[in-house]
Amino acid sequence: MSKTKNQKERRLITAALPYINNVPHLGHIAGSHLPADIFARYCRARGYETLFIGGTDENGSTSEIVADEIGIPIEVFSEKLYREHKKVYDWFNISYDSFSRTSKEIHHKTTQEFFKKIYDNGFITEDEMSVFYSPEEERFLPDRYVKGTCAKCGYTEANGDQCEKCTAILDTSSLLNPVSATSGKPVEVRKVKHLFFKLSEFSEKLEKWIKSQTHWREQVRNLALGWIKEGLKDRCITRDLKHGVKVPLKEFEDKVFYVWFDAPIGYISSTKEASENWENFWKEKNTRIYHFLGKDNIPFHTIFWPAMLMANGEFILPYHIEGLQYLNYEGKKFSKSKKIGVFCEKLPGSSIDPDVLRGYLSFIIPDTGDSDFKWRDFQYRINSEIIGNFGNFINRTLSFIYNKLDGEILKPSVSELSEDDKNLIEKIKEKVVKIEESFEKVHLKTAFLEILSLCAEGNKYFNDREPWVIVKKNALEAKKILYICATLCRVLAVLIQPFLPAASEKIWKQLNLKGSPSEKGIWGSLILEDLNGSEYYGSILSQLPEKHKISKPSVLFQKLKDEDISKLKKHLSDVRELREFFNC
Ligand code: 2FM
Ligand code: ZN
Repeated sequence: MSKTKNQKERRLITAALPYINNVPHLGHIAGSHLPADIFARYCRARGYETLFIGGTDENGSTSEIVADEIGIPIEVFSEKLYREHKKVYDWFNISYDSFSRTSKEIHHKTTQEFFKKIYDNGFITEDEMSVFYSPEEERFLPDRYVKGTCAKCGYTEANGDQCEKCTAILDTSSLLNPVSATSGKPVEVRKVKHLFFKLSEFSEKLEKWIKSQTHWREQVRNLALGWIKEGLKDRCITRDLKHGVKVPLKEFEDKVFYVWFDAPIGYISSTKEASENWENFWKEKNTRIYHFLGKDNIPFHTIFWPAMLMANGEFILPYHIEGLQYLNYEGKKFSKSKKIGVFCEKLPGSSIDPDVLRGYLSFIIPDTGDSDFKWRDFQYRINSEIIGNFGNFINRTLSFIYNKLDGEILKPSVSELSEDDKNLIEKIKEKVVKIEESFEKVHLKTAFLEILSLCAEGNKYFNDREPWVIVKKNALEAKKILYICATLCRVLAVLIQPFLPAASEKIWKQLNLKGSPSEKGIWGSLILEDLNGSEYYGSILSQLPEKHKISKPSVLFQKLKDEDISKLKKHLSDVRELREFFNC
């Protein structure tokens, strides 16, 4: 890979748009927002023209049911939860260029235009569907608003879409004695005309496309191909609800779109809000789109959404689908009602440093399998790796320079470099190549571990070179050794920025450098693998001025004591019910 690689490439990064029927927990952060943010931060630093977009998925019945239950108008409910979500993502330093809402006018318009194009292209058909109707409430009810007896196992409290007891997927024909979940009154089944998307027509095209996506993770590709093998059916894309994007056809104007039809179009609407040049990110061949999402969303992003894009014909297809697995909590599923988990509501204003949580989550991103948040492991990894290895190298280097060398370092000439010096500088080159390769494959955890192992190399170098002995005899030589250590601090600040952005800024300030470690294209100063020997050594040592004074250092992180963990555990698992959240 050379300095000029991919200079013109554009990247659009998306995180799945969360429903806002509740406040987020840590599983949501580790399972899409954080990995997407880490990748977006890398892409900007690597010099790609990057946009990172997201937003809230507000249409359909998911939030409406909860708002109804607690008796709050849906607009008020959504507004408050949107703000709560945004506050949490801001606290985590998630660097969205736009965090929009699917309730916005721009989204409704974008969805309607997107639909019209598919309709004009002949991929929409009309058909009848059996749906529940409540004569008493004079409205059609979504499956989730209906309860009844499961035809399979006889359980009398089954939900309209699924039986909790035997897990059978239910519909109007397999839910017996259906009643409205809100009024308890009987409901009837009516046949109603709806619009269907001709998904079945895209089987072959999708299969060919998915097979050619050899850069996807094997498990995501196999899942997608499995669904195609099972056979794709045309899919109903309209609902008889009030809350949602109106269907722009005369005969269907009382209906709204199915939420999974409009939600992915939210990626386009949000891009429109982020940039005037939004079309470049959706229509130009030299753009790569990366979708980050949880595993339950994989079918929609590998099958349904690409087929919608194919049917529309105006847009490029996604390049990468990062389907993440689940984060558990101490071996159990997150559960708000059972207060199992870490809930984000109380993070803003708590004593925890966002980078500390980002750091731990970076170790346990559920990329290839489910992972587990464990408080003991959290304390151990932060104290030993983030503080004991990373923080230690930065702090011992900067403190030594400040306390023993009057804050000053001097650049050694290439001919003065010892074998130890050269080995460390070669290690930097080797690691930067590996880290970049891992990022390009979206193997974020691997990139993180490689950065920490480069840090361990720095600690070893510091121990081997013993500057505390040398300084007593030759301060000039010590200033040169510490110049190499400070160079590694700068390299580490750039590399770690996607994971620990605030710590990276602090290192930059303490090194007394101009600009910022998150500047667009800053990775250019590290990508030197075309250079060898003296030329490479000279180049890597040119990142800092020849004679340089640093600022006063301070520790990056506070060690986590047992009592800190107990306090945090108590504070962050104690979560309010939504009723309390809305004061009702
Ligand atoms: O599972 C969810 O939370 C969905 N709201 C994700 C939607 S992703 C996208 F298509 F918008
Ligand atoms: Zn059942």
